Amino acid sequence: MQALADRLRAERRIVFVPTMGFLHEGHLSLIRIARNAGDVVVVSIFVNPTQFGPGEDFQEYPRALDRDLALAEKEGADIVFTPSEAELYPEGFETYVHLERLPRHLCGLSRPVFFRGVATVVTKLFHIVKPHAAVFGEKDYQQVMVVKKMVRDLNMDVEIIAGPTVREPDGLAMSSRNSYLSKEQRRSALSLRKALIEAQQMVSSGERSSARIVSAAKDSIASFPETDIDYIRIFDPETLEDRKEINGPVRMALAVRVGSTRLIDNDLLNPAR
Ligand code: PAJ
Repeated sequence: MQALADRLRAERRIVFVPTMGFLHEGHLSLIRIARNAGDVVVVSIFVNPTQFGPGEDFQEYPRALDRDLALAEKEGADIVFTPSEAELYPEGFETYVHLERLPRHLCGLSRPVFFRGVATVVTKLFHIVKPHAAVFGEKDYQQVMVVKKMVRDLNMDVEIIAGPTVREPDGLAMSSRNSYLSKEQRRSALSLRKALIEAQQMVSSGERSSARIVSAAKDSIASFPETDIDYIRIFDPETLEDRKEINGPVRMALAVRVGSTRLIDNDLLNPAR
């Protein structure tokens, strides 16, 4: 892959879409963005063990390589890079990329090794694929912010492009993990989107207190069966620090366990909307 990237890079703009596979319309939308942003689209499929904590779903994570390859090709990916675990993490591997502040919020609190794993694997993949640009989904808002910060802090010569969240027709954010949900749980999964819409409605009708909006969101989600809230936060879109008052555009994000499946979603909250 490195040798191929060297040759391609000399004359063409490489745009990269890293994934863990089990591709859905959200991933495919990023491939389409990549196609419009350069000449060669590289997609990686690698379920990265270092971003899963003990007791998380690394073993169960859904995998469907043949189907993924067909989907990626159909969407216009030129190269699909599928390294093995032994290639990326050979015996004796000991170097990790660590961010000091951004992972101390949101998902980083309940998934302590997650962003270290993401920052490390994305760095490795950037060094292998040598892209001019890379596309990430806003569905994982904190991940986009972590990657952007890492690229700036470490002078990586890669432009980071963020793609909007793709949703099912009823509003559920697409995720490979949605495949874990039973029929009943699928209904409860909609509570995340519903809470975000209700929050924006409160802001539009003049509510400025984050605490009151978060409290309403908690009640709304708790009214659905099998839901267990990990966090609901309203925060500064850049620093991810909590915002008590909503006096400009802020972001709201939430993580909710539905049965044993952890789902996340986020959206802008805008008083001017
Ligand atoms: P994965 O969950 O497979 O997601 C790959 C990319 O697709 C990420 O940038 C993610 O934000 C984006 N994505 C997922 N669901 C989306 C949706 N509904 N709409 C738009 N984009 C969506 O995120 C990862 O893999 C990994 O952490 C990775 C970056 C590959 C590092 O291992």
